[in-house]
Amino acid sequence: MRMVDLIQKKRNGKALTSEEIQFFVDGYTNGDIPDYQASALLMAIYFKGMTSEETAILTQAMVDSGETIDLSQIKGNIVDKHSTGGVGDKTTFIIGPLVASVGVPVAKMSGRGLGHTGGTLDKLEAIEGFNASLSKEQFIQNVNIYKLAVAGQTGNLAPADKKLYSLRDVTATVDSIPLIASSIMSKKLACGADNIVLDVKTGSGAFMKSLEESEALANEMAAIGKNLGKKIVAVISDMNQPLGYEVGNANEIKEAAEILKGKRVEDLRILSLEIASHMAVMAGAYSNYRRAYHELEKNLENGRAFLAFKSFIEAQGGNVERIENLHTLPNAKYHIEVKSDKNGYVSAIDAESIGLAAMLLGAGRATKEDEINHGVGITLKKKTGDKVTMDETICILHSDDETPEEAIKKAAGAFCFSNQPPSPAKVIHKVIT
Ligand code: URA
Repeated sequence: MRMVDLIQKKRNGKALTSEEIQFFVDGYTNGDIPDYQASALLMAIYFKGMTSEETAILTQAMVDSGETIDLSQIKGNIVDKHSTGGVGDKTTFIIGPLVASVGVPVAKMSGRGLGHTGGTLDKLEAIEGFNASLSKEQFIQNVNIYKLAVAGQTGNLAPADKKLYSLRDVTATVDSIPLIASSIMSKKLACGADNIVLDVKTGSGAFMKSLEESEALANEMAAIGKNLGKKIVAVISDMNQPLGYEVGNANEIKEAAEILKGKRVEDLRILSLEIASHMAVMAGAYSNYRRAYHELEKNLENGRAFLAFKSFIEAQGGNVERIENLHTLPNAKYHIEVKSDKNGYVSAIDAESIGLAAMLLGAGRATKEDEINHGVGITLKKKTGDKVTMDETICILHSDDETPEEAIKKAAGAFCFSNQPPSPAKVIHKVIT
């Protein structure tokens, strides 16, 4: 087989065979196929696309390029969730304990963040003592006992994706639906997941800005799952403004804990209950979505979900005093109020700008080596649709720098205003089962 023939075939819009895709993935991973030929094939895929079958084969080949995690020693039907990433997205800290509170095991492998704010592990490490470096045995034992464990990815998972993603990043081939879908799914499947709820974000702060693109990505990932015999539900959720009111590491843990204690932050609560309900049904805990939603909602009110959160944090070395008394979480030195310069309504809040402002404060990393500052972040005081008057506070920046000029400018610039109330912001756009 010759790589040049594969490039030509795809360039001419033809579907590649299983053997051809395997040849490409193996050859590129072991270094036999050079970057220039892989780049040419990626660009051909970018323009000509892939069938769902080709995309599933590519995904499986990337899974098979490295180690996979065997979760068969976990009792019960394990479910996983994956979000395509959004600002203020702390749903994992709500959904994990919520699903665990009804006895469904959640075994979550997560990464660290690069960009806006920290990743799941960085946020959890805002809780003093929290240890995300569990051995495989410890991870499995914690899931069996507490029904929830969150650990950093270990092992050489989907190395083909790692190599291809780096190449896509520098060859303008990231935003291709089959390439994104196979990249995300290969990592999920290598982590041993059989049942996955995907939270595909859509809007200004999301990877996919339009509903059409987000739907296409969700459909593609669902098709990969189907082709490879996995159960997938995809929820398309809104990212036209940050989720909830808090952005930053300790801030997001605090808001998640408050929801688990029964606080009503509507968008965050609705999305968490939606995803958790699909997970509970997939795992077989309930026969239908309505029943699951009802039971899970009860556990937010009666303290069971918060109890599951505490047990999970304690089992991984975290100081539970920090989540029982949320004011003891890391906190910044200064709290700077940003005021509205208009009367009217908030018509939009650009999530990406809020995320960048949080990063400027130190909540995220620009390079892998950067240290996260767990105490800094942003609290939104207004959300889309809220009425504002001139000089009213629209957000608060929690900063260790007394005058973080650039972050203030970025956060203030994220808010758009209108004279008339905007149409109500949607939380969930669509569910694909
Ligand atoms: N996230 C991934 O893991 N892969 C992509 O291709 C895009 C986003």
